[in-house]
Amino acid sequence: MAELQEVQITEEKPLLPGQTPEAAKTHSVETPYGSVTFTVYGTPKPKRPAILTYHDVGLNYKSCFQPLFQFEDMQEIIQNFVRVHVDAPGMEEGAPVFPLGYQYPSLDQLADMIPCVLQYLNFSTIIGVGVGAGAYILARYALTGLTSSIPEMILGHLFSQEELSGNSELIQKYRNIITHAPNLDNIELYWNSYNNRRDLNFERGGDITLKCPVMLVVGDQAPHEDAVVECNSKLDPTQTSFLKMADSGGQPQLTQPGKLTEAFKYFLQGMGYMASSCMTRLSRSRTASLTSAASVDGNRSRSRTLSQSSESGTLSSGPPGHTMEVSC
Ligand code: BEZ
Repeated sequence: MAELQEVQITEEKPLLPGQTPEAAKTHSVETPYGSVTFTVYGTPKPKRPAILTYHDVGLNYKSCFQPLFQFEDMQEIIQNFVRVHVDAPGMEEGAPVFPLGYQYPSLDQLADMIPCVLQYLNFSTIIGVGVGAGAYILARYALTGLTSSIPEMILGHLFSQEELSGNSELIQKYRNIITHAPNLDNIELYWNSYNNRRDLNFERGGDITLKCPVMLVVGDQAPHEDAVVECNSKLDPTQTSFLKMADSGGQPQLTQPGKLTEAFKYFLQGMGYMASSCMTRLSRSRTASLTSAASVDGNRSRSRTLSQSSESGTLSSGPPGHTMEVSC
């Protein structure tokens, strides 16, 4: 009886005769960790992520992925996506040997180069396909929350998800400004510094808190509303006016400049910098009535919490601070 033998079966189903692979275009971009080369196959498909691949050690994109991406059955899938095949630095075909002593980027740094590739291509979302070291790099990239391009991440910092998905004219305008900023590289550096910020370590009643008058403003639908509420809880309530603006998102100075101006006027007035004649007549009359009402409830927090009603467009403070109303 013939002995059973283990045989290796290699599936061979390459492209059909006459089927030509899509044209590829190779690009290089400079990143803070050196230049990176990548090859793009296909054209971007509206509302679809790009497939981005990262190869393993000892390979490049072609030796790692060509058999898979040129497999016949794979065509049905990949024809629906643009593909971006990244070559780790120095692994691209024809790459020169790095000079002696060259410090090769760490895997973390290789992951940090990916946003530069996506930014260059203006792609915001990807489906990552990685092998070995490439899988680590893509996982590291996904872990750091870099699932969007830098402009999209910055937009997510500036505006709430509701505002972004509403895609109002304002959002379109700011998306356009940021995405096409000629100084996007500089913006990214500022963004990185922001993400590496230290905690302010405010402590109410402690040594580290602001001693000066503060007006803290946040939209009630702002992406970082909780952080601003928490900040207010750590400030000196006798020095702090906290204004949570109703129906306002991440950038009240853009969406509600009138209400903000009015609140700022009162804040300055509280410091003696604005004559009351500068206040609107309506505001002054309402201030008078609401301030006396506020004194009834004098045992509440001493911070001036300014709540704003969207319907009347008024601002009123909690006791016993100044009552603020905004007539917009
Ligand atoms: C592609 O179609 O994505 C592809 C073609 C050749 C090599 C690797 C990928």
